Amino acid sequence: MSPVSLPENFRKLDLHQRQENLRRAYSPPQEEWEAVCPNPALDDLSDIMVESAIGSVPVPLGVAAGFLIDGMEVNIPMAVEEPSVIAAAAYAARILRQGGGLSTWAHEPVMTVQVFLEDTPTAGEKRLRGGEGRIGTLVDRAQPGMKERGGGFRGLELKRLQDSGILVVELKIDVRDAMGANALNTAAETVRPELESLSGGRAVMCILSNAARERRAGARFSLPVSRLSALGPRGMGAAEVARRIVLASRIAAEDEQRAITHNKGIMNGISALLLATMNDTRAVEAAAHAWAARSGRYQPLSSYSIREGLAETSEAQALEGTIELPLAVGSLGGAVGFHPASRFVLRILGFPGAQQLARIAAALGLAQNFAAVLALVTGGIQRGHMKYHAARLAYQAGARGEEVRRVAEEVAKAGRYSREEASGILERLRKDRPG
Ligand code: MEV
Repeated sequence: MSPVSLPENFRKLDLHQRQENLRRAYSPPQEEWEAVCPNPALDDLSDIMVESAIGSVPVPLGVAAGFLIDGMEVNIPMAVEEPSVIAAAAYAARILRQGGGLSTWAHEPVMTVQVFLEDTPTAGEKRLRGGEGRIGTLVDRAQPGMKERGGGFRGLELKRLQDSGILVVELKIDVRDAMGANALNTAAETVRPELESLSGGRAVMCILSNAARERRAGARFSLPVSRLSALGPRGMGAAEVARRIVLASRIAAEDEQRAITHNKGIMNGISALLLATMNDTRAVEAAAHAWAARSGRYQPLSSYSIREGLAETSEAQALEGTIELPLAVGSLGGAVGFHPASRFVLRILGFPGAQQLARIAAALGLAQNFAAVLALVTGGIQRGHMKYHAARLAYQAGARGEEVRRVAEEVAKAGRYSREEASGILERLRKDRPG
């Protein structure tokens, strides 16, 4: 625990005063300070976007290039701190395009906002149903822009909670290209008095539901098994690699502990794309895990099977992968498209609409999972990870630029993964350098 207490009025100070307070309180080394704070171009943005801002955290941003999604080339920007995630996504993209890439789908962007009413007489439910038209008009009036873009009110559902007796009014709203949180909450707060007067009850609270069960997206691929031939260790044929991938997905369906890690691998990709676009990663993660547990048992979000006999082709078998999950993502609104970093990321993606972005996210999630499972059932994932570990050791030893690659290669060759080893190699490298 840090014993430092910041001034009581910390949040009321201006950004530079907050930064100075922090610098005095924590005396960070220059390298740490410069990684977060003095960036005049971004400081103002951070200050607008969150309260008590002091700077921004530069999470590495990379691009997994070469995806073929619904017949289109897509390069996917990803923001993530874990070294192998982007490499794995790009590796999967290269393999899967040999089978024609990934095909995707997405539902209409309909979301639910809930209003919780207490002390509502049964007759109130009937009045609410009868008032659906008027409620819809009020919702659409509260969000005229959304209606103009083809979205708006899509209906009302009621349910009674057993224990508390609370009546839950669920408003279905098509939010088009927004993630929708603001629009939904505004709509609910606008119609709240009408709901109270129609039902005769009192509203306890209203808020969107992040479950987003009606806003799902999915992806699939079909890869001739022969394309897996060079991917296993020596002696492991393509059919065995495919069999193991399918078995791994059955294991995840049978064992919850494994399903959690399986899905974590999927979210490695999806959350990295969402973070890069500055979407709400927590909303999508909560929805994904709830969807995975919808049967009462936590299940994998993706599955694999082998399809026999690809009729008129010479290929006897195909490995098929599928994924489906709720993906409430926006292509505008909130930080998405507001922060210039998000705009640049959207530019790389070709400024997709929200449904298109959800489809890309689903494809990426499946590809990410395929890469992880493929590695797990063949050589294991550590081999790939050690390469990045060696690069970090080289960096920590003081290597910069081209030195990092050379030192990391030597560390890996020696098989001794320590800072001392990296320092020794760097020293020798610099000594041997001509001039
Ligand atoms: C690591 O971040 C993700 C994996 O654990 C996923 C998986 O096990 O499927 C490799």
